[in-house]
Amino acid sequence: MKLRRLVRKLLCLSVASLMYTNAAMSETIAMIGTGNLGSALGPAFASLGHEIIYGSRDPDRAEIRDLVARTGNGASATGQPEAAARADIVVLAVPWNAIESLMSNLGNLSGKIILDPTNPRMVGEDGLRDFAVAPSNAEWVQRWAPEASVVKAFNTMNWATMINPESAGGSVSIPIVGDDAEAKVLVASLVEGIGLHPMDFGPLRYASVLEGMYIVWGNARTVGTPFNYYFQPQGN
Ligand SMILES: NC(=O)c1ccc[n+]([C@@H]2O[C@H](COP(=O)([O-])OP(=O)(O)OC[C@H]3O[C@@H](n4cnc5c(N)ncnc54)[C@H](OP(=O)(O)O)[C@@H]3O)[C@@H](O)[C@H]2O)c1
Repeated sequence: MKLRRLVRKLLCLSVASLMYTNAAMSETIAMIGTGNLGSALGPAFASLGHEIIYGSRDPDRAEIRDLVARTGNGASATGQPEAAARADIVVLAVPWNAIESLMSNLGNLSGKIILDPTNPRMVGEDGLRDFAVAPSNAEWVQRWAPEASVVKAFNTMNWATMINPESAGGSVSIPIVGDDAEAKVLVASLVEGIGLHPMDFGPLRYASVLEGMYIVWGNARTVGTPFNYYFQPQGN
C-alpha cells in the first residue's frame, strides 16, 4: 500500500497540471453498498480498468452475482469490512444514516481514500429539506477515520446522469472537496474517466456546501423550478 501511495505521489507532483488528466493507476475500489449508486459507479469505474470489490451485507444474493458479472474486470463481492480491507479506495454508497455504524464495522481505514457521495436527509414540518448533520457527514467520516483521506464527490446529481452524461446535453460537472490533494487528483481522474468534469471546490471543510447543494436541489422540486447542476468553467 505504501509503495502505491509513493507512486501516486510522484504522479501527482503538480496537482494543478494533473487535476484534470487521468492520473490513476489501476486501483482496487471497495464499493460499499450495492444500490442505485453503487451498481452504477461500480461498472463505470471497472470500465476504466479498476478492480471493483462490492461490499454487501449479503454478498451471496443473486442480484449481486449479476452485478459482479455485469461489472467484469475481475470484480467480486464480499462482506463490507472484507471489501474495505482489500481496497485502496473505499466508496461509501450507503444511506447517510448508516454511515456511523458502518464506519465502526469497516476496520482500519488508515492510508486509504474514502469517497463519500452521501446526502444527509432531513425533511422539516414544512416539507423542506434541511441540514441533518453538522458540520457535514463527510467531516464526521474524517473524524471516524482520521488517518484516511476523505473526499466528497458524486453527491450532486442522480446516478443515471453520472453514467450517461450525454443525456444532459453538455458538460456535466462533479464538485469535489477534500484536504488531501493527491486523493483529490485520483478522484478527479475517476470523474474525468467516466466522462464527467471534475471541479475542485476546496478543502473538506466545504463539504457542507456540497451537501447543501442537494438540499436546495431537492427544495426546488418542492417550491420552485426543478434544476440540475452543470457548472461551466469560466472562460479566459
Ligand atoms: N441514487 C442516486 O442517484 C444518488 C446520487 C448521489 C448520491 N447518492 C447517495 O449515495 C448513497 C447511496 O444511495 P443509493 O441511491 O445507492 O441508495 P440505495 O439504492 O438505497 O442503496 C444503498 C445500499 O447501501 C447498503 N445499505 C443499506 N442500508 C445499509 C445499512 N444500514 N448498513 C450498511 N449498508 C447498508 C445496501 O447494499 P447491500 O444490501 O448490498 O448491503 C443498499 O443497496 C446515499 O447516501 C445517497 O444519498 C445517491
